[in-house]
Amino acid sequence: MLIDTYGRVATDLRVSLTDRCNLRCTYCMPEEGLQWLAKPDLLTDDEIVRLIRIAVTDLGVTEVRFTGGEPLLRPGLVGIVERCAALTPRPRMSLTTNGIGLERTARALRDAGLDRVNVSLDTLRPEVFQAMTRRKRHADVLRGLAAAHAAGLTPVKVNAVLMPGLNDDEAPDLLAWALECGYELRFIEQMPLDAQHGWKREGMITAGDILAALRTRFTLTPEGDDERGSAPAERWLVDGGPARVGVIASVTRPFCRACDRTRLTADGQVRTCLFAREESDLRGALRSGAPDAEIARLWRLAMWGKKAGSGLDDPSFLQPDRPMSAIGG
Ligand code: 5AD
Ligand code: SF4
Repeated sequence: MLIDTYGRVATDLRVSLTDRCNLRCTYCMPEEGLQWLAKPDLLTDDEIVRLIRIAVTDLGVTEVRFTGGEPLLRPGLVGIVERCAALTPRPRMSLTTNGIGLERTARALRDAGLDRVNVSLDTLRPEVFQAMTRRKRHADVLRGLAAAHAAGLTPVKVNAVLMPGLNDDEAPDLLAWALECGYELRFIEQMPLDAQHGWKREGMITAGDILAALRTRFTLTPEGDDERGSAPAERWLVDGGPARVGVIASVTRPFCRACDRTRLTADGQVRTCLFAREESDLRGALRSGAPDAEIARLWRLAMWGKKAGSGLDDPSFLQPDRPMSAIGG
């Protein structure tokens, strides 16, 4: 079990398969000049599958999410999914992707055993998409979404980040569109994870802003969620349900007390939190011939050091050294 000193148990493993991406979302990456990880530093497919096996069979992980960068850029993705689907107990598996290329691979991923996808899409307007991602790929994302839905990678979830002056007027339109297509939309507050350290607290679009904008067109009722106890809801029924919308207030209402996550970077480091400032190296152990039990021990030790919270709500908050594309979303 991956337990920390606050009694939280991590059962949800996020694995970054690459730090590279074919988009350049302004809240994530600079236009150019980001240093990529060197190929020899990346875990191989075999190393990734071994670590996931240890997590699932020895450490109680039940949910595996593949992230990046853009995980569809990893050539071995389908094979990795297939090998993880053969593990006992079989983990639930999802993919967090920008959707580019999903049109081609959705079916193969489903056949390999992937359960669902989360696709990032912040706008319905191609020109705003281009301004936000610095690439003309809006139509590819829409086709990827449709292919995922058709392949049964459901519920298809869409992640949207609202940026002041760019797409902050689109919340109700995005929700209307998602309802029509049968996708589950989730808004995520912009977090200070961009490589260029450009995030500002002032002017950010908050969960409160998003809910107020949605309520101009929809009736939202909080969905009962015992695990969050008295904390503010994250999911809302739209017009009485069954459709839902999520609003993830990672900045204004962090809910670290219920965190069940552990992360593995593409170069084999355990991170206890997106905002952690420390990492624990597993790659070195893997490559020096450590047995499974030793790797499990190092992973448990890393999680034991997990901090109480992200520190985002503290004015002395320090952004992590590595950007989100290197940590895994
Ligand atoms: N703040 C909030 N969300 C972000 N994402 C990437 N960078 C940030 C950020 N700085 C989103 C992506 C994707 C998910 C993994 O995280 O859009 O949907
Ligand atoms: Fe790529 Fe995702 Fe970063 Fe956008 S947010 S540049 S899609 S890794």
